Amino acid sequence: MNVGFIQFEPFWGNKARNRKAVQALIDGKSADLWVLPELFNTGYLFSAVEEVEALSEAIPDGETTQFLIRLSQTYNTAFVAGLAERDDDRLYNTAILVDKTGLVLKYRKVHLFNQEKYWFSPGDNPFAVARLGAVTVGVMICFDWIFPEAARSLALLGAQLIAHPANLVLPFCQDAMITRCLENHVFAVTANRIGTEHRNGQTLSFTGRSQIISPGGKILHRTSEKAIEAYHCNIQIDFADDKQITTNNHLFDDRRPELYMLN
Ligand code: ACM
Repeated sequence: MNVGFIQFEPFWGNKARNRKAVQALIDGKSADLWVLPELFNTGYLFSAVEEVEALSEAIPDGETTQFLIRLSQTYNTAFVAGLAERDDDRLYNTAILVDKTGLVLKYRKVHLFNQEKYWFSPGDNPFAVARLGAVTVGVMICFDWIFPEAARSLALLGAQLIAHPANLVLPFCQDAMITRCLENHVFAVTANRIGTEHRNGQTLSFTGRSQIISPGGKILHRTSEKAIEAYHCNIQIDFADDKQITTNNHLFDDRRPELYMLN
């Protein structure tokens, strides 16, 4: 499998410009799956729910989902991408998996970060995985990283690869994802954004350093804090199927859920 991420600086509120930027970055490159940042088409720092309403879209009928499906057909690829979803009167911070056949999976962010709680409803569907060709892909979004249950749930469902759109503002996630990969023996692609947003007296800077991590915890590639980059590489996806970490230890079979505090 050839998998990649796009790290760039979305321009707040200009969805057409952001979509064009993504197309320009992948043009001439060939990957089976591209992971884009969280809220890649809108930018992040909202200041009123009306702004989110104006920029959000229905899925799959909205223009951004349809654009990514068309792009999948043109470039023979697939995308996991974050966008603001409108469903009746509810707004969600959502990530979609699309390929040339259409929408494959939709995930609504379960763990909302800070002010996102003012703009979005939390996702209320269980974590889910989907098949992309021969590969089982799970999706989580940004701050989900700090809840190990998210990655664990995806791994227990069979995810070989976790696609992780992000708009990270704290510096911890990139290293924490190494542990998420080791403890679940999965690949993870974190697609973060760069840049600083200033809106209505607020400022947020994003930490870049998008990366691809192997099930053994190896950083296959980590880009810089400021680079605009579409990076892709081959991964040996079967490596994620081996959960035997010593002769006598299996990552899943050795779990003792009856002794854990899960609620
Ligand atoms: C985040 O979840 N966007 C920090």
